[in-house]
Amino acid sequence: MSEETYTFRIQRNTPTGNGRFDTRWQEFKVTLPTTSTVLSALEEIKARQDGTLTFRQSCRSAICGSCAMRISGRTRLACKTQVGSVARDKVIEVGPQTNQPVLKDLAIDIRPFFERVRRVDPFLKDGPESAKKVTKTAYDQVNQVTQCIMCGCCYSDCTMAEVSPAFLGPAALAKSFRFVSDPREGMKTERLEFLSQPDNMWSCSRCTMCVEVCPKDVKPMEAIVKLRTRGLEKGLRSGVGARHALAFHEDIQQNGDLNEFTLMMRSVGLGGTLAELGSALHLMKKGKIPSPFPHKAEKLGELRKIYDILEKNPLDVETKAAEIVPE
Ligand code: FES
Repeated sequence: MSEETYTFRIQRNTPTGNGRFDTRWQEFKVTLPTTSTVLSALEEIKARQDGTLTFRQSCRSAICGSCAMRISGRTRLACKTQVGSVARDKVIEVGPQTNQPVLKDLAIDIRPFFERVRRVDPFLKDGPESAKKVTKTAYDQVNQVTQCIMCGCCYSDCTMAEVSPAFLGPAALAKSFRFVSDPREGMKTERLEFLSQPDNMWSCSRCTMCVEVCPKDVKPMEAIVKLRTRGLEKGLRSGVGARHALAFHEDIQQNGDLNEFTLMMRSVGLGGTLAELGSALHLMKKGKIPSPFPHKAEKLGELRKIYDILEKNPLDVETKAAEIVPE
């Protein structure tokens, strides 16, 4: 097994009181096989070079989620990440998860993450929408999101959580999808009503970071997209996010192109549009105001055929399997 000497550049965060930290980067050299995990390297550093280095770990098997941290620019599980796969010129940079408060070095306070999960009532509720019969196919969708180990990788790398700390976040939304899709759940509509409120399912910008970094292939963003579809199907169409999506849908279906001149008005209404008047005037001055007349795309007939097929048979974006909508 080939060995290499790697430089670990680790972010040290030492609390100095009143919520402040002394933050600095410290380098450690470790020689180990290229297939060793980052967690093994951190243990080696802690055992032989600096016993004060603080990080979390428990199962060492990508099950408990406690070793999630930023490694070479992405949040990953240290126990699942091989050093050879993330080293750049034999340097590996390690820091704590982002979007969550740091406690010390690589250990973060996981309470804000779990508070979000708690807000979606992560348990089955009895109610009028419980299905009498549970088929295996209807349950398959639930299975995918139950793979979540609550490691927080998705929340740490979520670009929306970074700019909008009130955002519910990908893990809590995926958890919510797990219950909205469960045929046994009795309060699906009530859940969707909650999710339609600001800072919940419509706040996701679909940057796909959560899909990219999830170590369990839960695909939270896809769950969010399905939640939105379910919400629209239940008639929850009054929020800005829902109106924006419907305006997009209407334009593409009718013309194959967006009518950006009216898109804002249809999404945020007159009040929201007037609030953005300054930006509109700025764009106008730069000659960037779109035409008020809808533009029709070429081969519109082909596009409408795609719409017809999708409307008859909604597809799971990733698996291309027919989506099962619970009763
Ligand atoms: S130590 Fe449990 S997931 Fe890494």
